[in-house]
Amino acid sequence: MARPAIERIGIIGAGAMGRGIAQLLAQCGCQTLVFDLDPAASENALASVSAIWDRLVEKGRMTAPDAKAARARLSRADALADFSQCDLVIEAIVERLDAKTALFAELEGIVAPHAILATNTSSLSVTEIAAACARPGRVAGLHFFNPVPLMKLVEIVAGERTEKDVTDALAALIARTGHRGVRVGDTPGFLVNHAGRAYTTEALKILAEGVAAPATIDAIARDAAGFRMGPFELLDLTGLDVSVPAMETIHRGFYQEPRLRPVEIGRRRLAAGLLGRKTGEGFYRYSDSGERLPADIIEEPAGTLPDRVAVAGTGWPAQRLRDWCASFSVDIVDPAPQTLTLVAPVGTDTSTESVRLDTDPAWTIGVDVCFGLDSHRTLATCPATSPQAAGQALALARKDGVAASLVRDSAGLVLQRILALVINLACDIAQQAIARPEDIDTAVRLGLAYPHGPLEWGDAIGPDIVLEILNGLVETTGDPRYRPSPWLSRRARLGLSLLREEP
Ligand code: NAI
Repeated sequence: MARPAIERIGIIGAGAMGRGIAQLLAQCGCQTLVFDLDPAASENALASVSAIWDRLVEKGRMTAPDAKAARARLSRADALADFSQCDLVIEAIVERLDAKTALFAELEGIVAPHAILATNTSSLSVTEIAAACARPGRVAGLHFFNPVPLMKLVEIVAGERTEKDVTDALAALIARTGHRGVRVGDTPGFLVNHAGRAYTTEALKILAEGVAAPATIDAIARDAAGFRMGPFELLDLTGLDVSVPAMETIHRGFYQEPRLRPVEIGRRRLAAGLLGRKTGEGFYRYSDSGERLPADIIEEPAGTLPDRVAVAGTGWPAQRLRDWCASFSVDIVDPAPQTLTLVAPVGTDTSTESVRLDTDPAWTIGVDVCFGLDSHRTLATCPATSPQAAGQALALARKDGVAASLVRDSAGLVLQRILALVINLACDIAQQAIARPEDIDTAVRLGLAYPHGPLEWGDAIGPDIVLEILNGLVETTGDPRYRPSPWLSRRARLGLSLLREEP
């Protein structure tokens, strides 16, 4: 039986989310009723949405008749009983399982048989909320992002027993709003919060290993990969009080999957109250007016431009390194003691490459040839590298005015390990059929504002190169967090796109 289109919608909880959802749905033509335990909250919600529409009209982004019509569609409910005629009720109340199940139990006695019950939960299980209902088949997740009118993504979450016509009806509704609905499975963090676990977590791990300072890691992520915000800028914006519990819940939810393992430094800094912007100090310090104060200056080894440089190694990484050096018009010579010698780790580190290629470790520097050669170069010392060699390498890498950062030895330097993990996690989400490959890319671009969808990004880098980085990481560190997802390794070996689904 086809469901009637959703026209009358009830929203429960008139906080930050409830009011945004109400604005969006009233704007797209639905009769929208808002209820909150606190009557002042629903009054405030209506007033603030109305004020937003006034501003949109002033700016010419909405016509006055449209604003008037939307206002006429939005009203306040005095009691849950007012929802008896609704086709859909969305709850955006406090994030507590007992509160949500009690609310849905009460609603079941009020709403019509065809009505859908949706939860905006971001961390609870839709299946568990539905299990407490007499008819779990009509319960689904409808996960909006904050601020709702601007964040164009909605996750449509099917619990284990959610009926397909329920998610179809929700998908049709979201399409009417102009937002992009993606269908996702009911796994911890759903799609976006799960996919977002690699970027900041791996950056924290790099920091915890003493590889580089937050400002350096952020600059590399922005300049060489195109992220709008560096991982530490993002953590400071979100606040560790939100990020650390999210990391821990998702890790626990997947039974301690090593790919999702949080990093201890996060919890420690949370305990210290270094939450980020909201406490005036996180990975950066902020003034009372919220401006970021300059980060501490990082001292770098001084050095003069070398007149010759050696490149060690064979294969495509060494070739890229040779081509890059050739652009500086320096003499490229064979590796020799006390001669600046560059190596190109792919998933491995400078120390490993120095031993493997038998170079003079005091004069060996690793260069990331996978990312940032044109935009922000990453150079890595090894524990034996002399300051003189490091200084020469920096002078060379900055000769043409491109930024370069010097970091301590790190398997996969900085961006290789971050991006390989972002892509690998997306691959594993595809492998688990939590969402379709194209939806994973869309959701990550819209929900996390990454410059590319992770699967298309992996295709652009080359699935075989991503696999090589991960294999190098596993070999060098022995840590199973880096093990490649079967989705990635199969497609890399077969020469297929990471977006390729099995028929
Ligand atoms: P909020 O604290 O701003 O608003 C919650 C509102 O619900 C309050 O006005 C409160 O009075 C009301 N309320 C609480 N229990 C109620 C009940 N039993 N019946 C009726 N009203 C009740 O919370 P916010 O941020 O709007 O979040 C709401 C839900 O949306 C939570 O489940 C949260 O996890 C989820 N969510 C939040 C996001 C965010 O960025 N804030 C993003 C995505 C989802």
